[in-house]
Amino acid sequence: MTSTAAARTKIRKSEVTHYKMYIDGKFVGAKGGKTFDVFDPSTEGVIATCPAAGAEDVDRAVKAANRAFYGGWRSVTGQERGRILFRLAERIRARRSELAELETVNSGKPIVESEYDMDDAATCYEYYGGLATKINGEVLPVPADAVAFTMREPVGVAGQIIPWNYPLVMAAWKIAPALAAGCTMVIKPAEQTPLTLLKLAEDFEAVGLPPGVVNVVTGDGPVAGGAIVKHLQVRKIAFTGSSAVGKIIMREAADQLKRVSFELGGKSPNIFFSDADFENAVDGALFGTFINQGEVCSAGSRVLVQRDIYKKFVDAAAAKAKTIRLGPGLDRETKMGPLVSEEQRDRVAGYLKVGRGEAKVAAGGGTPKRFDKGWYIEPTIFYDVDNSAKIAQEEIFGPVMSVIPFKDEADAIRIANATPYGLAAAVWTRDIFRAFRVVKALEAGIVWVNHMQPTFVEAPWGGYKASGFGRELGHWGVEEYLETKQVFINLDEKPIGWY
Ligand code: NAI
Ligand code: MG
Repeated sequence: MTSTAAARTKIRKSEVTHYKMYIDGKFVGAKGGKTFDVFDPSTEGVIATCPAAGAEDVDRAVKAANRAFYGGWRSVTGQERGRILFRLAERIRARRSELAELETVNSGKPIVESEYDMDDAATCYEYYGGLATKINGEVLPVPADAVAFTMREPVGVAGQIIPWNYPLVMAAWKIAPALAAGCTMVIKPAEQTPLTLLKLAEDFEAVGLPPGVVNVVTGDGPVAGGAIVKHLQVRKIAFTGSSAVGKIIMREAADQLKRVSFELGGKSPNIFFSDADFENAVDGALFGTFINQGEVCSAGSRVLVQRDIYKKFVDAAAAKAKTIRLGPGLDRETKMGPLVSEEQRDRVAGYLKVGRGEAKVAAGGGTPKRFDKGWYIEPTIFYDVDNSAKIAQEEIFGPVMSVIPFKDEADAIRIANATPYGLAAAVWTRDIFRAFRVVKALEAGIVWVNHMQPTFVEAPWGGYKASGFGRELGHWGVEEYLETKQVFINLDEKPIGWY
């Protein structure tokens, strides 16, 4: 895919930046010298190359992380780790426009969204900078002739594999809690979007991170990601991505009984009762599905609408969807950019074809004709969708909404819970009794009322059912990187006297 797409576009060699990965405090190439191309989704042109790490490069990175862990990082105080995290946040804030621009050029997303992403990434480092000094055990109420307590200790080297939809934010969600816990790590960004993390790595030494504490390895999923998962010195894997890869990782990790935590996306219901504020509801449906081109794990792509407002709702949502401005992400007027890759554009286009056979089209439904370059997909609304349809059950990860009518509260809850996933859900109503009843009945790790998508570093993020396990963010996020040691101290000096 990379070589043909590169050949299609006439990008001068000089415009392509050659990045290195960051291992043991140094920027290095892959041992075998292999690289892969990185694209601008709005031009389809190659903008950079990155090292394609093989197993030997991953081994070098993991060994560096292991040396750093046992060589001193374990005993660096929470205060000092916290200060490093604060400095990382400062660097992101100082480089906000540079990093946001690069994120947009590399991922396709609107610049305004990238700027918010940089703020979110910085806030995440700040939150865990504060938390680094608040990780402690508990004293346990054992009998008077003993003392018992718990100690919290870092699990060791963490392997972290992240996706391309929120590149620097996903890196922050992984790196920040692991550093707060006292772990060292090898993180692999997605092969589509490795650039902003490599840019941030330029500051790792200056903020006080010793060599080997955070290693950034770039490369292909099965090769570089697979090598991280299989490495004997990696104690824990944190993964965000597809369910298919989550299953592979879980099988591979099983051999070593390696700890895993997963965020595997979803097919989240966004439920609209007829008493909801109508204008807000329509906006909320569009925002919930189309933000970040719909490339969002918690996308509210199953829109459930009560029958008495159903027709009016579909018409209003379709009319608004048709006004969403598509274009290159760097244009500040752009509300939706191209999808991240040719592969993702084709995958979503495949679902549009399936959807046209399964339901009716209210808006979009194809690729826009007015761009001669760029992996664009029209914001699409399917309606009269049956909940058993593929477009109602499978994660599409693009700007595609499936609208499903429902009769009453029981019907809405039944449909909402009827997928294998359980990441997020939202309910829109002005009836507080109903809101709470529905909140309690939904099987989802995140439930919003009268909004969809707001995400705060203080609050836990993760899913029920096939959406994964473990939680990121908040104090839950740091738990994933900690072991609990139970300590018992005998205060009774007389012999045990059993034998
Ligand atoms: P993916 O799951 O293949 O990629 C995510 C990360 O896993 C990347 O860093 C990739 O290099 C790595 N990876 C891939 N195969 C691996 C393996 N065998 N061992 C270790 N690491 C591996 O996701 P992809 O192919 O980019 O997107 C496919 C679908 O996955 C999307 O259409 C979407 O439905 C879902 N997805 C969900 C995300 C979420 O936030 N939960 C994020 C990205 C994709
Ligand atoms: Mg994949």
